[in-house]
Amino acid sequence: MRSRVAMTVTMVLAALLLPVPSGVAASSGFTRILLTSTATPATSQYVSWSRSRAASGQRVVTVAPDGTVRTSPAVRKTGTTKRTAGSTQYRYVARVSGLTPSTRYRYRIVSGSTVSSWRTFRTAPRAGEPFTLLSFGDTQVDNAGVPESTIDRAVKRYPSGELMLQAGDVVNKPWVGREWADLHRALTPSGQSRSWISSIGNHEQCKVPGPCRSGSARGFRSYFQGASNGFDGQRRTWFRVDHGPARIIVLDSFGSDLKRQRAFLIDSLRTNRRAWSIVLMHRGPFAARGDRDNAEIRRWFLGPLEKYGADLVLSGHDHSYARATKAGVTYVTSVSGPKYYDTSAKDFRENGARRVKWAERTSTFQALRITPTTLRLRAVVSHRAKGAKPATAVGRTLDLFTLRR
Ligand SMILES: [Fe+2]
Repeated sequence: MRSRVAMTVTMVLAALLLPVPSGVAASSGFTRILLTSTATPATSQYVSWSRSRAASGQRVVTVAPDGTVRTSPAVRKTGTTKRTAGSTQYRYVARVSGLTPSTRYRYRIVSGSTVSSWRTFRTAPRAGEPFTLLSFGDTQVDNAGVPESTIDRAVKRYPSGELMLQAGDVVNKPWVGREWADLHRALTPSGQSRSWISSIGNHEQCKVPGPCRSGSARGFRSYFQGASNGFDGQRRTWFRVDHGPARIIVLDSFGSDLKRQRAFLIDSLRTNRRAWSIVLMHRGPFAARGDRDNAEIRRWFLGPLEKYGADLVLSGHDHSYARATKAGVTYVTSVSGPKYYDTSAKDFRENGARRVKWAERTSTFQALRITPTTLRLRAVVSHRAKGAKPATAVGRTLDLFTLRR
């Protein structure tokens, strides 16, 4: 025991005395550093990064507030290729575990004599403690423009936002390297101090008209390390995360395994011991775009959402804002990039849902304050294109509601 304490103290001193490089990721060789949630974010954390060359023996060093040092080995995961994601990169992920809830840790990545600069993350709170999360619709196009400014605006206004949700279609043409570079620019620095959770969209997996060379969604799967819940047949593009008073259920609404995901959704809703069930999926049960009909999603997911008491469904895909309710479930569709479609109440109305709020040609972010008894969502306008409706200015609240237990 004594030698372990001595070793810890020595490691702390060594960690503190090592010079902190300035130039950060670009000069250290660790690029596209991104935090994502494990299934148990109160006590563990995924840290992932890219290298231009393969390297063994990489690890994440974490320092707790009391000085305790942890070393978590990295494993190499499927990287990207020029053909599928526009560049060849090696991707690594470390799972840091044994952490204490609601605690801020310092971390850095180490590979031989190469080290990243120190950054921090905060573990998720316990089930009874409130927290704030920020949610975003499709970013998809021109990520270095409107999406980046939307994310920056959200974090600046809500610095306590400790978890980031994104509803899919992170890029438009996943085989174009520049799009991923722009996306990571938009995810930086927010994603290096708080976890991002994205639900895979159709664009990442080539479910779009025209030629696409990224059907394996290799870029998305490489960059966004998904949680694992040990569910039979589970894929890393659908999973659940228990964060504070919320269970967040992430689905792949364009997956070829919707039947299995339906079973997972039912299991996730039925076994939820947290106060709230929030479902994140790219394409929701009701299309906010006038000429779409999301019948396939209704067929597989609508019954379980209503029967087993989902509270909130967050989605994108329709490039407009809409809030609707049906059978006790609230649906919010949004967009955070600069691509827009006209919106309509048609698919809601024809399928028994009541649309209570909408906007066109308007990008937003959503701030959700979640306590064990209340869930308050505020949609804030971050960009307006020509012809935007209604006339809500940038920085103003487009929508605000509270769900109560
Ligand atoms: Fe989409």
